[in-house]
Amino acid sequence: MSEIHADLIAAAAAVREQAFVPYSRFKVGSAVRGASGRIHTGCNVESASFGLTCCAERVAVFKAVSEGEREIVAVAVVTDVSPPAAPCGACRQVLYEFGADMAVIRANLSGERIDAVMRDLLPDGFDGKSLDF
Ligand code: THU
Repeated sequence: MSEIHADLIAAAAAVREQAFVPYSRFKVGSAVRGASGRIHTGCNVESASFGLTCCAERVAVFKAVSEGEREIVAVAVVTDVSPPAAPCGACRQVLYEFGADMAVIRANLSGERIDAVMRDLLPDGFDGKSLDF
């Protein structure tokens, strides 16, 4: 049974308003809950050199890790599309390393929500074990 994580979704919806999206106009907000219990948020930040854009999820992960988190137990991703958008492949890879069992919640502003577990979104994922860490 999935946990509620209503506070995580609310945090992701709030930070979504900070998205810097002059090119796509597609706002994304994300929030991760670290093992410490703290919530860390991120929005997508685009660049005029398009390939340098960073997704909301990775901004949230990098903020969390830089604040000392080493495990993430849940991530929320909020957009305004239906069905709620899923994390991209690059973000799945980065998230996976911090918790193959993390809850992945995608939601939208209408209250739709889809729950998954990271290892199901990235089967047979690559992580530090392959590097002998
Ligand atoms: N985007 C995210 O922030 N997260 C994803 O998982 C998929 C895509 C952003 C990147 C870009 O700013 C916009 O959405 C359109 O691709």
